[in-house]
Amino acid sequence: MAHWKAPDDRQALTAIRRKVFVEEQQVPEEEEMDAFDETSVHLLALSSDSGLIGCARIMPTGQIGRMAVLREFRGSGIGSLLMTAALTQAKGQNFETVFLHAQCHAEAFYTRFGFIACGDVFDEAGIAHVRMTLPASPMPLS
Ligand SMILES: CC(C)(COP(=O)(O)OP(=O)(O)OC[C@H]1O[C@@H](n2cnc3c(N)ncnc32)[C@H](O)[C@@H]1OP(=O)(O)O)[C@@H](O)C(=O)NCCC(=O)NCCS
Repeated sequence: MAHWKAPDDRQALTAIRRKVFVEEQQVPEEEEMDAFDETSVHLLALSSDSGLIGCARIMPTGQIGRMAVLREFRGSGIGSLLMTAALTQAKGQNFETVFLHAQCHAEAFYTRFGFIACGDVFDEAGIAHVRMTLPASPMPLS
């Protein structure tokens, strides 16, 4: 877990998101870092020598977001590890609904974790998104 208020963590999270979302995907920086960063739980993936790899956040609304892996580390399971950690964190917080706004190109990635797309495609920061929710687990049979 990483803390937005800890300068080293905040610098690492900001650097990853700047590279992936601002530079690569052209998201305006003022939209990328927002007020929810203060109140979210952040996850940070670093290499053994503290090199930057990836990040994600879980907002107080139950929304998972800012899922990012630096380009050179993609396709080797790090995004899946971050998503698994985010789901563990979200389940521990007992949100009524766990959801995310998926960039449409990444919908298949989230489907692997049980998320289901609902509603129409919408624009966020100039990128097509779709809301996806995680159905609640069935009550165990007694
Ligand atoms: C989406 C992202 C976090 C995935 O991270 P990753 O480390 O590459 O993911 P993984 O290596 O764990 O991939 C797991 C599986 O999902 C698939 N996958 C990964 N990204 C995908 C995508 N964008 N669309 C569809 N499938 C995807 C992989 O092919 C892999 O499948 P495989 O096991 O059959 O090979 C990464 O591509 C990323 O940072 N993209 C740029 C930022 C972004 O768009 N974030 C999503 C915002 S909603």
